[in-house]
Amino acid sequence: MLNIALFGPPGAGKGTQSKLLLEKFNLTYISTGDILREEIANNTPLGIEAKGVIEKGGLAPDELIVQIIEKKVTMNLNSAGILFDGFPRTVVQAYILEGLLSKMNTSLTCMLSLEVPQDQLVKRMLERAKVGGRSDDNMEVIKVRLQEYDNKTKPVINFYQEKNKYFPINGVGTVESIFGKLVETIESTMKQDFFNVVLLGKPGSGKGTQGELLARNNNLVYISTGKLLRKEIAGNTEIGKIAKPFMERGEIVPDEIAIRLIEKKIQHHPSADGFVFKGFPRTVVQAYILDGLLRRVNSRVTCMLNIKLPTLEAIKRLNDRGKTERKRAYDTSTDLILNRLDEYEKKTKPVIDYYKKQTIFFEVDGSGTEEEVNGRLEEAVVKTVKQLRG
Ligand code: AP5
Ligand code: MG
Repeated sequence: MLNIALFGPPGAGKGTQSKLLLEKFNLTYISTGDILREEIANNTPLGIEAKGVIEKGGLAPDELIVQIIEKKVTMNLNSAGILFDGFPRTVVQAYILEGLLSKMNTSLTCMLSLEVPQDQLVKRMLERAKVGGRSDDNMEVIKVRLQEYDNKTKPVINFYQEKNKYFPINGVGTVESIFGKLVETIESTMKQDFFNVVLLGKPGSGKGTQGELLARNNNLVYISTGKLLRKEIAGNTEIGKIAKPFMERGEIVPDEIAIRLIEKKIQHHPSADGFVFKGFPRTVVQAYILDGLLRRVNSRVTCMLNIKLPTLEAIKRLNDRGKTERKRAYDTSTDLILNRLDEYEKKTKPVIDYYKKQTIFFEVDGSGTEEEVNGRLEEAVVKTVKQLRG
């Protein structure tokens, strides 16, 4: 999801720019100011509670804002993203937003702040008062609104600056030129997010071959826990010694080991465009772990591609590989092959269900030549990118 908070003092142009951004990025709009005004107009209990404070230019209580936001955010779980106008306006609200979005397995992409000098803000709002007639656009109330912004809202800047998500934008100029700057900033932050592919499929389905191709063609870093583990074993490292017996039996190695290897690999490539994860996650627990690992770098799984292949075909491929130089220790015995296929059925299938619920997901036919399968996977990547852009 592309989640943007449009920030800035009263009169900075948040509402004006929101209209343009919504259309451009196909986002859901949540303006706490608009919602409050509507509640007041409809004389709802919420509106009645908020009215007195807003008329004087103060901020509505956080408790009240939570109710509004929670309802709106959970209603829009499936949208391409959310544009928040005038929220979060206090540090408490920033924490609330973090919690809500993380519950939805997403996060705020960026906070864009429109910077406009105070005299201009006042001028704009007084101008608007002549035509629009918002009851809080009079000098007395404007003063309080600006004060509230300085005292309670400005500290929110720090909160997002520390997360590298705060982007100040000069809000003086034509509406179009400011919009251009906003779009440019959003597109560059979208690019900063890793593009992470989880490649699933039973043993022998071609994940290794296809994963490396996908990574190379899309400028991603290939992370195969199997490959990393084999390297540790070959180097006879501490990790290698622990992992060896598990690998030899065709079993899944302890999670702590895989975590350490993946974390090291991600940290090694901070400027990568993204990663292709192959052979991990193999269990639902590992799926949660991967989410956690990616969240630490402000990212998430972008899409899951599942390569489908009939079991007999998989056995045949593994058998064939067992006769070549690329053979693995566990390719040479039918018992081990069956053992791995069995582990896959039991533990990895639930992983597919896990991702189906929360990420972009494609099933890809794994039969045919390497090029044919690669073509299908690349097509899925293109579709994912399209879906992300809305
Ligand atoms: P809210 O409705 O959010 O108002 P605000 O923050 O005071 O901001 P405005 O809507 O007045 O300005 P804007 O930045 O949207 O600018 P606009 O595009 O309209 O909140 C109202 C009240 O609700 C708050 O005071 C508070 O009490 C309460 N509230 C809301 N959210 C809350 C929360 N989360 N927690 C607690 N309380 C909350 O532009 C302004 C004018 O300038 C327009 O006339 C426009 O045409 C013009 N203009 C725009 N761009 C330009 C430009 N580039 N050049 C020249 N003029 C321009
Ligand atoms: Mg507004």
